Amino acid sequence: MKDINIGILGCGIVGTGVAKLLMENHALLKSRIGTGLNLKYVADLDTHTPRGITFKEGVFISDASRVLNDPDIDIVVELIGGKTIAQTLTLQAFENKKHVVTANKALIASHGNELVKTATANQVEYAFEASCGGCMPVVKSIRESLVGNYIQSFTGILNGTCNYILTKISKEGCPFEEALKEAQAKGYAEADPFLDVEGHDSAHKLAILAALAYGMKINLTDIHVEGISHITPMDIEFAKEFGYCIKLLAISKNEGDTVEARVHPAMIPLDSPLAHVDKAMNAITIDGDASGQTMLYGAGAGMMPTASAVISDIVDIARDIISGCGQRVPILSYPADNIKRIAIKPVSEIKTGYYIRLAALDQPGVLSRVSGILADHGISIKSVHQKGRRSNGTVPIVMTTHIAREKDVQDALAKISTLDSIPENSIIIRIEDKHNDQ
Ligand code: HSE
Repeated sequence: MKDINIGILGCGIVGTGVAKLLMENHALLKSRIGTGLNLKYVADLDTHTPRGITFKEGVFISDASRVLNDPDIDIVVELIGGKTIAQTLTLQAFENKKHVVTANKALIASHGNELVKTATANQVEYAFEASCGGCMPVVKSIRESLVGNYIQSFTGILNGTCNYILTKISKEGCPFEEALKEAQAKGYAEADPFLDVEGHDSAHKLAILAALAYGMKINLTDIHVEGISHITPMDIEFAKEFGYCIKLLAISKNEGDTVEARVHPAMIPLDSPLAHVDKAMNAITIDGDASGQTMLYGAGAGMMPTASAVISDIVDIARDIISGCGQRVPILSYPADNIKRIAIKPVSEIKTGYYIRLAALDQPGVLSRVSGILADHGISIKSVHQKGRRSNGTVPIVMTTHIAREKDVQDALAKISTLDSIPENSIIIRIEDKHNDQ
């Protein structure tokens, strides 16, 4: 069989990693597939910045259309990122009957339903293992390895940048901005790090994984998203005092008619498996009815780990080409006709524990007014903590609650914010602790 020809679109961090791995591990891959993977083109508008790779003559080009229009190209690897040019070129590739491999979670989360439809209509593959969790094989695990299970829930640390920042603040006292700069320098962050720190990158991944797990249409818009930019070193210190750490979590629960899907920072017990996932590592626990809990752990970001996931998709497609059995596994885990529109439960209806931090004037009666409001909303206080007076005259008061309904907590906070003795906005962090009681 002739070599399988590959064209990469976008030679940034991940594109460079994929090109490197295809070249350096060429012999290994050939021995595993039985056919060579030939890197025919790498297209990028910038062909001048050195990438630390010596391409063969004619491989490194600036014109993406040469990749898309070359009849010898079997697999296009879209690593441009973003949602505009990447979408146009992906659609062109499908129409030209080329399989597409990508790490582009923003594109799939936003336009995946239509893209998958076009790929299927053109009888080509659209593969995106690298879109979720770096080298962690989470797409394949949910879609294939756990196919025998009703997936009941999953909880993941799916953003390497945020996990890196939270670890650096918590374990080394590193300031937020410095930790973010380091994550950028290490190649973990998105081109626009706002997507990382405000939780959107995790939401993209959550939308994709929920679709695969439950057979639902990809639904990004209804996912509740909060990032980590409002988390202070004080919150991290309080968390430690309570036996918790703070992680940015992507949480999903299958409730039959509805699905819970939310991204936000959460306090989790220090002895829980996800609490041990540090720096840019990602992890996910997946609960299936037959399997019980499965946990995956791996490098969630960075050049070579992400390249590893891209290569796994390339090899899957190469093997399908060789065996002539394309489209064996439905791209979104279920055949199109069986994919339903399942509603995401509004965050106001979720129930969990809460950490509430208030800045209060140090006056008599403040605590009783706040606790009265919480009681009026049916919220049961588990503990109350106060730190020393700050230079602006306020004292930080932290309360933790037993399990409460989000709407009640938000309504109570709105009422608390009207008190003269609470001059600053209060913040909440949800506590995900299965030992927390009513
Ligand atoms: N910016 C992403 C992260 C890259 O930090 O996890 C991997 O998707």
